[in-house]
Amino acid sequence: MSNSDQLLEAYRQSHPNSARWHERAKAFFPADGATHFTRVRAPFRPYITHARGSRKWDVDGYEYIDYVLGHGALILGHAHPAVVEAVQQQAAKGFHFGDNHPLEVQWAELIRRLMPAAERIEFFASGQEANLMAIRLSRVATGKRRILKFRHNYHGWADELCAEGTPGANEDQVTVIDVGDPEQVDRHLATGQFAAVLIEGGGGRIAGRVPTPVEFFQALPAITRKHGVIFILDEVVTGFREAAGGWQSIVGIEPDITTIGKAVSGGLPSGALLGRADLLASLSPTSPPARLVMHGGTWNAVPLTAAAGIAACELYLDGAPQQAACTMAGRLRHQANDRFRRAGAPARLYGTHTVAHIYIGPIERESADDSAPPTTDPAKLANPRMTPVYKRLDLHLLQRGVSSLRGEGLMLSSAHTEEDIDRTVAALADALQEMERERMLSL
Ligand SMILES: Cc1ncc(COP(=O)(O)O)c(C=O)c1O
Repeated sequence: MSNSDQLLEAYRQSHPNSARWHERAKAFFPADGATHFTRVRAPFRPYITHARGSRKWDVDGYEYIDYVLGHGALILGHAHPAVVEAVQQQAAKGFHFGDNHPLEVQWAELIRRLMPAAERIEFFASGQEANLMAIRLSRVATGKRRILKFRHNYHGWADELCAEGTPGANEDQVTVIDVGDPEQVDRHLATGQFAAVLIEGGGGRIAGRVPTPVEFFQALPAITRKHGVIFILDEVVTGFREAAGGWQSIVGIEPDITTIGKAVSGGLPSGALLGRADLLASLSPTSPPARLVMHGGTWNAVPLTAAAGIAACELYLDGAPQQAACTMAGRLRHQANDRFRRAGAPARLYGTHTVAHIYIGPIERESADDSAPPTTDPAKLANPRMTPVYKRLDLHLLQRGVSSLRGEGLMLSSAHTEEDIDRTVAALADALQEMERERMLSL
């Protein structure tokens, strides 16, 4: 038996209860029993029963330091007491009134305090719904149809949001280019075909696995304005996670439309679109029929979600949880890189703010700045051929009590502690050493 089979076998044997749930799941969920493409893993990811703070526990009784954090939604960590209390109190009063309620107004007021660009706000069930509406509003406002997007940016799985060349997706009206060249953006917009430019806050793929220069973000408002094109900033990940005011407050820009999700509702499902009042006016019933956009949605601003959102947003206001998560992410990047350098491991952590991206591959540039990626080549930072290597790391980390984002990243919360970081660094170093022995790192 090869070493790699030994890992799979050891994992399977040490997780017999998860294995049983996985067998049952496969009868329903076509993605090898998983309900999200990032949760597909050979042989399976653990089945979780409960979570608190920085930890979660599975059906076999294992504890994990969690860096998936509800796909990035849980900047406060799992089951933050203030959010739990708000949800419990609201649950007893009713989940959903199918009507107006004060909580949605209070929630919107808090969002505007966090992001002053929110002249008007619209709530959705998810981040991608907010992006789809942002595109529609841009088309109505400009009378144009084409959308300019950027390679390696993720905005959801729907038509026009998903990756280039996705089977079955309608992308006829989408142009995808690399980030970094404002003149190229200018040339495309000068064709007069574009309704909107859509870009991911913080950089491509979960806040900058593929970094985007800050100057590029700063150049976009003037270029889009010059051509009468709508500038949409997707802050579904970065909204309130990187700073109280989101990515826009960090780089100092005011988009026409911002989309948020994940953290805005403290861990319950939601999305929101905010921005210029004249653009959102299309949602008003007084809008002329040619500009009127109808918006339904059973789960828009559900009281239960709004209650969680208010509790979470109140905590985001002073920036303290974000700062705590940033500090822990910085510590993790620094300590891990120190260890990798000393061991001569072909791996580095990088990224800014609350995320540590994991890179495995040739170290093309060594930097004292642990936020800097070890190569500037986007094709290497997001190399699909490396996916099996990252998934392998993910499994090794799970075996060592660390739950990562596909072995490619670690998202931090205000609940992570120095002890979590020390244990994670040890797990990373040990896992990589084992992968070296398995010859998984002979790149
Ligand atoms: C940057 C970005 N935008 C949009 C989305 C889609 O959000 P949702 O999954 O809530 O639809 C995601 C999801 O991960 C995301 O990372």
